[in-house]
Amino acid sequence: MIDMHCHLLPGVDDGPRDWDESLALVRQGAEDGIRAALVTPHLGELDPERAEVVKRKFSELVGRVREEGINMRLILGAEVAFGLGLERLNEFGVGTFGGRYFLLELLPLGFVSPSLEEVLFNLQLKGLRPVLAHIERYPGLVDDTERLEKLVRMRALLQVNAEAFLRKQAKTALKLARMRLVHIVGSDAHDPRSRPMRMAEAYRVVKWELGARTAERIFEEVPEALLSGKDVDLEPVAKEEKIFRRIVHRLRGT
Ligand SMILES: [Fe+2]
Repeated sequence: MIDMHCHLLPGVDDGPRDWDESLALVRQGAEDGIRAALVTPHLGELDPERAEVVKRKFSELVGRVREEGINMRLILGAEVAFGLGLERLNEFGVGTFGGRYFLLELLPLGFVSPSLEEVLFNLQLKGLRPVLAHIERYPGLVDDTERLEKLVRMRALLQVNAEAFLRKQAKTALKLARMRLVHIVGSDAHDPRSRPMRMAEAYRVVKWELGARTAERIFEEVPEALLSGKDVDLEPVAKEEKIFRRIVHRLRGT
């Protein structure tokens, strides 16, 4: 599995407090079966000094993980706040991955800006493709699958947190995944206790409910393609998969 959203750098945001917590998180993820992680510290403004701190801490993390003998590939990204000179992000040096993708945090409190489509259009002109972070947090968005489909056709990608498949939102998250409106998954880990780096349980739920093909696609194949900078085109599926196909998946174990 590849974790596409996690906070592993100590002292830069609301993630781990120190290197001990940071390494405990990475160890936890490796034991859970996470083989690679996109590290996504919050980026609220395009501040070059902050970018330097983030880059320095990321290099130190890579060194410490290697020294500890933990087998996890780490890639630096960021969770970029909506509305801040986003179209200049590719000149900034921190934030994008695979040359053109970045994790975009919509505004807090479940609010989705009516200008989102316009922002996406401008980003597209700059060759940037945002991945909308933890879309399950925005009820107005996940309940409006037509708008989600439109956003995907505008080249946005959609990420959900692993725990969305485990808690009360599970039905919604599974429905979106079935409609191909979930492209990648992240733990959104912040600390080893209350917000851990775990995804295996969510993988098992997706495999059981939607089949191994879908689980592999959103936990492994699409993340790898994005990290490698490949162009990913995933058309949404308008109709939900029929129930008998789900049963066939379960019987076959596929
Ligand atoms: Fe996050």
